[in-house]
Amino acid sequence: MLSFPPGFLWAAATAPQHVEGQNFNSDWSEWEQLPGKIKNGDSSRVACDWWGGRWREDLDRAQTLGMNAQRIGIEWARLEPQPGQWDAEAAKTYRDIITGIRERGMEPFVTLHHFTSPKWVAAQGGFENPEVAQWAARYADRAAREYQDLVTYWITINEPNVYAAQCYFFGLWLAQKQDPPAAFRVLKNLIHAHAAMYHAIKRVQPDAQVGYSHHWRVLEPLNDNAPLDRLMAGLYSRILNNVFFTAVHDGVVQFPVGWNGKIPEAKGTQDFLGVNYYYQEHVAFDISSPGDLFGRRVVGPDVERLHRYFEGAGNLDPGAFYRLLLQLKQSNKPIYITENGFVETDRDDQIRYMVTHLQAVYQAVQAGVDVRGYFWWSLLDNFEWSEGYTPRFGLYHTDFETQVRTARTSAQLYERIVRANGIPDDLAAQYPLKN
Ligand code: BGC
Repeated sequence: MLSFPPGFLWAAATAPQHVEGQNFNSDWSEWEQLPGKIKNGDSSRVACDWWGGRWREDLDRAQTLGMNAQRIGIEWARLEPQPGQWDAEAAKTYRDIITGIRERGMEPFVTLHHFTSPKWVAAQGGFENPEVAQWAARYADRAAREYQDLVTYWITINEPNVYAAQCYFFGLWLAQKQDPPAAFRVLKNLIHAHAAMYHAIKRVQPDAQVGYSHHWRVLEPLNDNAPLDRLMAGLYSRILNNVFFTAVHDGVVQFPVGWNGKIPEAKGTQDFLGVNYYYQEHVAFDISSPGDLFGRRVVGPDVERLHRYFEGAGNLDPGAFYRLLLQLKQSNKPIYITENGFVETDRDDQIRYMVTHLQAVYQAVQAGVDVRGYFWWSLLDNFEWSEGYTPRFGLYHTDFETQVRTARTSAQLYERIVRANGIPDDLAAQYPLKN
């Protein structure tokens, strides 16, 4: 058996817009109603009906699998529907949910911002407006006062790099701008917001463990011996992976072009690294793509098939996950894998993904990387942003007509791993790390 350290946290992750439904005050809820935004015209209006109370049965499921932690989010748009106005009823519902997590023997990890903002924030320019840092800090302060008796682990912002890229660089979500200077401005404001939220929580709750969830994309040269491929992979990786990370690590912001400088209050504003990892991509130099800074992302032959299930799929290479974790060892911070997961397909991709990626985590732990927890994305099939209900990341299948959940093989397998606090030999033999 490949055993994990005692006390290792085994969990799953969700976020408000994915599961709650009836979230009428967020910018996403408004935007998704515009024609053509969401695949098949789906809407997050009902989602997994957590706001209707189904969080109870889903947390029961997590408990049944033996999990000892759970990641959820709280929704800024519900708690502060108007500037400075706190919604006591919404706050009470989240108190019930977080208490429900604790009552089921699980440690709550609570995210404050997972891509969605109140409409009033969006109406004032959202994260393009530098004032957003103060607003976010006021919200974080209030949330910490409200739940400090229940929550130790706070995640300020989920995947700031993805948010900036999707909304302001690729023009896909919400603000839908293809405007690199705006994307860098937004990233800078996200750094300020994270730092302000970190300090706000620590003022209320000095013992809290505060971090953010960073989306890591392993971007490697298509041809290791081609200097231009190496250059492009390095550039892409710097933009996507390193700008935010470095700012939070040492307070220095280094954009490849444009503004560079210091945000001293951001330095050291994380007590742990929240790592979201999904897949790897190769990068090649391409003279014909100036709009993409002369780079091209190249994915393997399997990807076309995987795209039928999840548009975002890149190369599923658990070795890349291992290499990433080894690199992060240098930060000397505890690491929680706050998201890792894959969709159910017509093959056994989901369980293969789970067992091989957990072996990568195991190897990293063996190599001295301080990984303390693993959160599978996601507990159940849910509303997956602009792809609606098509990609199915859940340990549980959700029938969105009837709201009936059915355990997948991945749930059974995860339960075996969780209860053993390790990967049983037969699973490791069936899904070897290298094949
Ligand atoms: C996001 C989740 C999302 C997942 C799968 C992550 O980047 O944090 O909200 O569902 O990817 O696409």
